[in-house]
Amino acid sequence: MKIIGLTLSNFRNYESQQVNFDGGLNVLYGKNASGKTNMLESVYVCSLLRSPRTTKDKELIRMGASRAKVALTVEKKFRKHTILLLIDEVGKKKVAIDGIPVTRAGELLGVLGVVFFSPDELKLVKESPAERRGFLDVGLSQQQKSYFTALQKYNKTLKQKNNLLKESKHADNLDDMLDVWDIGLAEHGATIIRKRMEYVNELNKFASQSHRKISSGKENLMLSYETAVKTEGDIRRNLEDALLASRAKDKELGYSTVGPHRDDIKIEIDGIDARRFASQGQQRTIALAMKLGEVEMYKQETGETPVLLLDDVLSELDKTRRDILLEATKGVQTILTCTEFDGDGAKLFEVKEGKIINKQ
Ligand SMILES: Nc1ncnc2c1ncn2[C@@H]1O[C@H](COP(=O)(O)OP(=O)(O)OP(=O)(O)O)[C@@H](O)[C@H]1O
Ligand SMILES: [Mg+2]
Repeated sequence: MKIIGLTLSNFRNYESQQVNFDGGLNVLYGKNASGKTNMLESVYVCSLLRSPRTTKDKELIRMGASRAKVALTVEKKFRKHTILLLIDEVGKKKVAIDGIPVTRAGELLGVLGVVFFSPDELKLVKESPAERRGFLDVGLSQQQKSYFTALQKYNKTLKQKNNLLKESKHADNLDDMLDVWDIGLAEHGATIIRKRMEYVNELNKFASQSHRKISSGKENLMLSYETAVKTEGDIRRNLEDALLASRAKDKELGYSTVGPHRDDIKIEIDGIDARRFASQGQQRTIALAMKLGEVEMYKQETGETPVLLLDDVLSELDKTRRDILLEATKGVQTILTCTEFDGDGAKLFEVKEGKIINKQ
């Protein structure tokens, strides 16, 4: 798929800007703080209904303005869609797809697929498990609405259960209430675990291939889903058992200690845990391979190419890795930001103080 047009009104430091992107490589270049990342952010919000860098949507409204607006047209294999996003005075988001208001976040998912890559993602290997779970959640939610729904329900139930464990420790009917929440957690949690396992197994094929290429065939990457829940047999039943087994401990601690909200991606190079032992260069190579894998997973699952958003990553990579990344952008619409770009075959946009001042 391709984004054809993007219009920003009072979004971050843009007062009013319209851009027509090319179907191939688009480069936003310009000085620091000019608005390059802001533009990628506006695209990301149209895809996932949240910013990759803030949870406070009000920050997206240009200072001094009361509302922000983003209009984006995306061309897919069989049809075009227009996404209109409005952030109102109190920071509440409203979305319309092809002029029809959307009431739930899930309805927007899948309309515009993006893979976002920034220097933060380069740290994916050394970050906390939460970051790696986030990687899975974003990838899977964009491909499968049923995953997003299960995740939403799971998180809501988990919050309610944790509140109970914290606030009502001494209630007489505590166990009865916990039983109820555990039924929900086991149902939705099993869906999440099953889908994440499938995703990681497939991702591993693509990522290990890219990884071999980047490391010149010297190292073998192995990704697998790491969970304390037994994955043989009926996962839902196993999760139910695990929840019950940890109940005494959970009551004592005041929160729920087993389930997909505690899981991780295990990352090994030649059998050694890369999360703990990989060098900086190795970590970058793995992160790059995982992100390229995310692109391939999206293609495989949806039959469409996602839009690749590359925020300032070229400067962080050496030539071999840079070339492999640029190679992978062939046939994928890419919007890339940098302070200077010396490659060719790209449509160039110079950004200055919230405006595009030059196009080539
Ligand atoms: N709500 C807002 N209203 C007005 N300006 C904003 C708002 N939010 C952020 N900005 C401004 O946008 C600028 C940052 O833009 P952005 O992060 O896109 O820069 P960049 O071009 O990616 O820079 P770098 O090369 O350093 O990454 C900052 O100067 C910031 O003050
Ligand atoms: Mg930036």
